Amino acid sequence: MAKRFHIEPFDEGTLVKLELLKLYVRSWLHVFISAQKVFWKDIFIYDFFSGAGMDSKGKPGSPLVILNELRVHCPTIVQKGLNVRLLFNEPQSDVFDNLKSNISDFFVECRTKSEFNCCKNCSTDDNCPFTVKFSQKEFNPFFSEIYPHMAKKPDLPRFMFLDQFGIKQITEDIFQKLTSLKRTDFLFFISSSFVRRFSELEEFRQYLKVEKEDFDESRPEHCHRVILNYYKRMVQNPEYYLAPFSIRKVANIYGLIFGSNNPRGMEKFLDAAWTIDKNTGEANFNIDNDKIISGELSLFPEDNKIKKIDLFERNLLQWLTDEERTNEDIYFFTLSNGMRKTHATDILKKNVSSLKITTTDKIRKGYFYLGYKPDKHLKIKKNE
Ligand SMILES: C[S@@+](CC[C@H](N)C(=O)[O-])C[C@H]1O[C@@H](n2cnc3c(N)ncnc32)[C@H](O)[C@@H]1O
Repeated sequence: MAKRFHIEPFDEGTLVKLELLKLYVRSWLHVFISAQKVFWKDIFIYDFFSGAGMDSKGKPGSPLVILNELRVHCPTIVQKGLNVRLLFNEPQSDVFDNLKSNISDFFVECRTKSEFNCCKNCSTDDNCPFTVKFSQKEFNPFFSEIYPHMAKKPDLPRFMFLDQFGIKQITEDIFQKLTSLKRTDFLFFISSSFVRRFSELEEFRQYLKVEKEDFDESRPEHCHRVILNYYKRMVQNPEYYLAPFSIRKVANIYGLIFGSNNPRGMEKFLDAAWTIDKNTGEANFNIDNDKIISGELSLFPEDNKIKKIDLFERNLLQWLTDEERTNEDIYFFTLSNGMRKTHATDILKKNVSSLKITTTDKIRKGYFYLGYKPDKHLKIKKNE
């Protein structure tokens, strides 16, 4: 199956994965390239499992998804003098040849279309305002080779896409390294159903040590959440952010895990995920078996709610009843529950009459200023 990946059209699940990559890369590039003030001149994107660049029908795979998002920024990259560096890695030689040829076609198209003034000057790939490097290596030894260089400059903005086949590549050691880089965001793919099925096999346990008891056998569709918790337990830093996105392909569940040291990174990822899945923000299927999604309306109104949103509402209100919280606390609480700021704001607005809000700042009625290091400071407590 692995070998056929690029000589067949991408399946629905793969298209969802690539859509999420596209939306996240779009906001990530916006933060590091379009921001008014330039904090970092050097920006890195790594696609460690590049594949051929497209499927058999010419649909963009991860390398072209990234390039298409980047090309719109060419004028800004030139104007701001940024060094944007891309790395595409693909060890299988025939796939690697296709990758190089597809990316070379991308540059020819850029030059001939000349949509952006700066591309007119790019008479060769070398004149392009960003650089592309290729490598043809096995991920694990390759990452170990380049990691010490990255660790010397952990503050540089990096985005890594790790689209492995199966489960073997994001070991505990690799995961610790990824999370230790301060300004690195990553998105990796994993075959979660396979972990659920084979977690007890010794051969499997050399890569991942997920316990069989961690899985709820009555809920196989939740297996990617279990994988997320497995990686969460490895993180020492309480201010590190991880989020899942489950992808069903026929009978199997796969998934993406997003990681970032930055709450704003998490916020952007959740925005992308909720754009794709408007019900739970974390799957391309009805992950909580919500009746309202499958169109089975109940006579009891409480059953006609999306469970995840309803649970968040109850938890948030209880948590605000327990203690007074700041608007920044509420923001973190919202992110750690995999929800968007708008979810929390809507709940606060709905319950405003039972909230005690104190602030010395001048605030607009109905605004809660949820965010990281907000410029207005509120304290909010819910009456019993
Ligand atoms: C799922 S595909 C990648 C698809 C690609 N990201 C896309 O969007 O089209 C996984 C790729 O990883 C490559 N691969 C397999 N084992 C690898 C390894 N150990 N290190 C790096 N790449 C590997 C395969 O040749 C394959 O092209």
